[in-house]
Amino acid sequence: MNSLKSLQDRIDAFLVSYLSKQPVSKLQQAMNYSLLAGGKRIRPILVYLTGQMFGCPLANLDEPAAAIESIHTYSLIHDDLPAMDNDDLRRGKPTCHIKFDEAQAILAGDALQALAFTLLAESQLIDAQSKISMIAELAQASGLNGMCLGQSLDLQAEHQSVTLEHLQKIHCYKTGALIKCAIRLGAYASGNGAKPYYEHLDHYAEAIGLAFQIQDDILDIIGEQAIMGKPQGSDVAHEKSTFPALIGLQKAQQMTQQLYQQAIDSIKQIPYNSKPLQDLASFIINRNS
Ligand code: IPE
Ligand code: IPE
Ligand code: MG
Ligand code: MG
Ligand code: MG
Repeated sequence: MNSLKSLQDRIDAFLVSYLSKQPVSKLQQAMNYSLLAGGKRIRPILVYLTGQMFGCPLANLDEPAAAIESIHTYSLIHDDLPAMDNDDLRRGKPTCHIKFDEAQAILAGDALQALAFTLLAESQLIDAQSKISMIAELAQASGLNGMCLGQSLDLQAEHQSVTLEHLQKIHCYKTGALIKCAIRLGAYASGNGAKPYYEHLDHYAEAIGLAFQIQDDILDIIGEQAIMGKPQGSDVAHEKSTFPALIGLQKAQQMTQQLYQQAIDSIKQIPYNSKPLQDLASFIINRNS
């Protein structure tokens, strides 16, 4: 089974190769800058590990993996804009709007969103019906009923005290939706073999998706900026609604442990080798970047 590092290297190589074939422009440079700036590549890794679990060749998973990373990077570029979280550091480098300018950063995000669907549509190794399912899934997870909705709710919840239930909803949309989508893309690429296990995969995804964002909220308080490659204390400065702000650091940490256990319980029910996805759940709650 491939290590996380080898899958990171695989998606990086695929993205570099794809983008190097595109005509050079300022817009293309801004997209490259953010997309190739590093990043943990958790969502592509989820696509690969889910597909691999069901025996799907890695080559069939490259485009879906790149598509979800493209949407994710667009969401980060826009998340950092002055109108949103107004941050100046991302993946250890100046944010896209600082390096280029606000207009180019907005457009780089827009073009990365379009690129995601181009990648899926152009894939040679996925059958037409699966492609349509993937495109529909990614569109749903990105937009009005997914990440964008979550981001909208997140901004509305600044300087507010929200209920635990509402905060859970924000996190589920802004971060959980793309994580769940990554796992579904891996499952769709695997054909019928994965079908009986969609429910277990969704439960696993929901648990690690929420745990992922709670850990992100925790790191905003206790993380080290040099390791995270993004500003520490940004949530506090913006009076964001976060789990540590609402229930305290310790309870937030306990919650990530509980969610980890829920994720493991769900994924273990699938009668294939789920060890890599179990290890990824552990990485998500123990990460320091
Ligand atoms: C950061 O995502 C934004 C959230 C959804 C919490 P990641 O922590 O996956 O960021 P990168 O891709 O590794 O930079
Ligand atoms: C962002 O959440 C989630 C996205 C959809 C990008 P955050 O605003 O907490 O992400 P970071 O901490 O800036 O990476
Ligand atoms: Mg944000
Ligand atoms: Mg942010
Ligand atoms: Mg954050």
